[in-house]
Amino acid sequence: MLAVPAFFFSAAWGWGVLALGLLALLFWHTRHLAHLHRWLAHPVPGQVPEGKGIWDEVLAALHRLERAAAKREEGLADALARMRRAVQALPDGVVILDAAHRIEWCNRTAEAHLQLDGRADLGQNIANLVREPEFIEYLQAPQEDSVRVAREQGRALSLQLVPFGQSQKLLLSRDVTQAERVDAMRRDFVANVSHELRTPLTVLVGFLETMRELKLDPQRQRDYLGMMQEQAARMQRIIDDLLTLSSLDSAPPASDETRIAVRPLLERLKSDAEALSGGRHAIRVDFQEGHDLLGIESELASAFGNLVSNAIRYTPPGGTVTLAWREGADGARFSVEDTGIGIEAEHIPRLTERFYRVDRSRSRETGGTGLGLAIAKHALARHDATLEVQSEPGKGSRFSARFPPRRLAAQPFVT
Ligand SMILES: Nc1ncnc2c1ncn2[C@@H]1O[C@H](COP(=O)(O)OP(=O)(O)OP(=O)(O)O)[C@@H](O)[C@H]1O
Ligand SMILES: [Mg+2]
Repeated sequence: MLAVPAFFFSAAWGWGVLALGLLALLFWHTRHLAHLHRWLAHPVPGQVPEGKGIWDEVLAALHRLERAAAKREEGLADALARMRRAVQALPDGVVILDAAHRIEWCNRTAEAHLQLDGRADLGQNIANLVREPEFIEYLQAPQEDSVRVAREQGRALSLQLVPFGQSQKLLLSRDVTQAERVDAMRRDFVANVSHELRTPLTVLVGFLETMRELKLDPQRQRDYLGMMQEQAARMQRIIDDLLTLSSLDSAPPASDETRIAVRPLLERLKSDAEALSGGRHAIRVDFQEGHDLLGIESELASAFGNLVSNAIRYTPPGGTVTLAWREGADGARFSVEDTGIGIEAEHIPRLTERFYRVDRSRSRETGGTGLGLAIAKHALARHDATLEVQSEPGKGSRFSARFPPRRLAAQPFVT
């Protein structure tokens, strides 16, 4: 039998083994700790170190926590990105300012409105970049809710400061150019309507007073009543035209289901023109056989009729008026050409404004309200058509309505 040395049973041996065991355990824990420390110093998401025994449980819990935190962070980043996209998409400009009015962030609309550079201008004081005095005053001590600032090219901005957070401010900018234009147009329109109605009304009231005060012979009375009727008819025409305009404004786009035969329409326009001219003009029709028009006949007949009546009224006797229908690959064109007085270039862009007349007295003499071309333009726009004007003073004018191909239909085959 092999003799076991007495040393192996000694207390020293026991302590030695225990110490070795503890050392090994310490080494094992230290290794795990070192791994954990290394990862914590530079945490790589999703790569929490793995371990054994108790470390497996601890690290698995840490892994779960880390995953939950990563998910939360992702959610937050997502929400932030969505918020930024939403603020970017706002039609209004947004600038975030710190307590000292330095730019912290701005969206693209604000960049365009205020000529800012979203990167280069960060940290800059807004007062150095938007220098209009009314804005600087507002920035320092806002008296009103917002301030109107005129920018270049006739644009107008409304700027508003809204405090938020600790001491930050939101600067909101809105382009009010169009709204101001519409406002001015509305004011002009009301002033124009009142002015247009006041003239015939004043004449009417004058005649009424005269007739009441004076004893007139029957012939005079008849004359006065005739003139009063003229003025009343003028007022009626203005109101009818205004109602037509407003009904065109609120109507849905003209349907493209009804066919309009163009040749008979041109023939009717020609005979109307002859009646209006009373033989003082030569009236021609230049018709190219082609398609039917799609739309509302009464609206187009009235628009074309206005172009024709203008040509007659603004062409001295002996002149020529030509009604033409032409078709091409890009659609069709109805035009009225005259050899009349023509129009100076500066008036042409304004002809379709309500009540705009180149020569007020001449238009009034011939019974014009100045609404004809405004109505025509509206009616044409409802048919996807545009109105073009070419004119040379003293030589004549050509007014053309251009229709796109989708407003044309092949004529039905007739046997
Ligand atoms: N063919 C033309 N030649 C010269 N000037 C024209 C011609 N057509 C229109 N104009 C000018 O454009 C202005 C506006 O025309 P528009 O048809 O809108 O009004 P109007 O003819 O004066 O009145 P309304 O048509 O309402 O009876 C006219 O007053 C006239 O000065
Ligand atoms: Mg007219």
